[in-house]
Amino acid sequence: MAPVRLPVPGVHDQGSNDMKQRLAFRLNGKPVTIQDDGTRTLLWALRTDFGLTGTKYGCGEGVCGSCTVGVDGKAVRSCVTPLTAVQGKEVTTIEGLERDGRLHPLQQAFLDHGALQCGYCTPGMVMNAWALLGARPTPTREQIVAAMEENLCRCGAHPRILAAIEAAAKKGGAA
Ligand code: FES
Ligand code: FES
Repeated sequence: MAPVRLPVPGVHDQGSNDMKQRLAFRLNGKPVTIQDDGTRTLLWALRTDFGLTGTKYGCGEGVCGSCTVGVDGKAVRSCVTPLTAVQGKEVTTIEGLERDGRLHPLQQAFLDHGALQCGYCTPGMVMNAWALLGARPTPTREQIVAAMEENLCRCGAHPRILAAIEAAAKKGGAA
């Protein structure tokens, strides 16, 4: 499942630095608001305004997948997503997956399978897999491979990443 790029509502109508607008959306289940001048990406708002540094900056060009977050359940590359594109939507980051102090089944499976080395790609991997299992709770191995192949891991952890996602799916990892 290829990551999606969100359309930019009204981007041509606002974009000047002195034309700020108030955006409202839900972030990890809670309503938030932010002033935006039409020039910022979702990635930098998450990291700088909301302090959610789990989402990583890699290529900055929508290529590597390290910045992947969920927007209305879909995997989105936040480095190329204008903040304006999430107005009224539900944004989910790696920090939003745990419940009552317990890791999400995908997070636990990544740990159990040692599905990381440096860990830089891991939040994006987990969020991409989270969107996959949300849309397709029992994917085949081939479907997992297809969904994950555009998320890059320079440490070569892909075999363990795929195994972790398979294991999480078997345990109802879309939860
Ligand atoms: S940092 Fe966003 S895709 Fe690479
Ligand atoms: S674990 Fe290092 S880039 Fe994937």
